[in-house]
Amino acid sequence: MSNTLEPIPLTGPRADETLSLPDFGGIEIEGIDLSKPLSQERKDWIIRMFRTHPVVVFRGQDLTKDAQYAFTLNFGEIEGLHVNRHIDPVKYSPVHTVSNLGTDGRPGAPIRERGNYYWHSDKSYHDVPSLMTMLHGVEIPSRGGETQFANLAKAYAALDEPTKQRIEGLRAVHSWERSRIQSNSLPATEEQIRERPAVNHPIVRTHPDTGLKSLYLGNHASHILGWPEEEGRALIRWLEAFATQARFVYSHSWRKGDLTIWDNRCTVHRALQHQNMNAERRVLHRTVVKGTVPY
Ligand code: OGA
Ligand code: MN
Repeated sequence: MSNTLEPIPLTGPRADETLSLPDFGGIEIEGIDLSKPLSQERKDWIIRMFRTHPVVVFRGQDLTKDAQYAFTLNFGEIEGLHVNRHIDPVKYSPVHTVSNLGTDGRPGAPIRERGNYYWHSDKSYHDVPSLMTMLHGVEIPSRGGETQFANLAKAYAALDEPTKQRIEGLRAVHSWERSRIQSNSLPATEEQIRERPAVNHPIVRTHPDTGLKSLYLGNHASHILGWPEEEGRALIRWLEAFATQARFVYSHSWRKGDLTIWDNRCTVHRALQHQNMNAERRVLHRTVVKGTVPY
């Protein structure tokens, strides 16, 4: 299949202009080998760190898929299977793979699943979206391929009062179908559209653990419920551009063995393409924990 899709534009900050992990509000946890059994006390501490830091990074981990699955269960229920599971059951199994490899197992295939390159919060097109996502770096390209995160609580706090008042109580429509269009991906199938009807969520949500308000938007968000679509889209895209300025963003430069977890309730994230998408492999193992209804 030839690639008829447009190149993916790089908007927003470059990886070298963004915040350090601590300035962003995240934390790197050292001195824990996640392949060894963890005491309940340690587990509880890690969960507390996750609840109060939108991105948590462990380095130098060597985990089998089963071990990653078991560690993920500490954070809650593992998310049900993805809407794309019929297309590629291996790629979308509970511990699945995020990669730049084609069906022939090699890099260089046209990127037809492009959603990850646009700012998004995982599964915000579900009524009950994802709580946490965990990626484990297995094969890492030599340059580029960072994952960027925007701290949407910091961004919300930085909005001026009139804007805060204007957006209070608004709800955004999120949809898999629109998300595919907005990322110029393969269109959603009729079956997928039936399976994942549009949902709506508040565009300002309150974090159940910290009590902080944050924006809640991203590429799965389409327009504002009850507003003319174009006007709603413009507001959502404006807020997204505001929230993804370098001063709210951390860029995670992957090393093999990294295990990064993030809180989808108060962040959006995206992948950056790497230097040599056609030759260098980028492979990460992924698990996702189901969240709660945003309020
Ligand atoms: C994801 C995702 C980004 C990346 O796994 O949910 O968006 O950098 N990944 O691979
Ligand atoms: Mn994602």
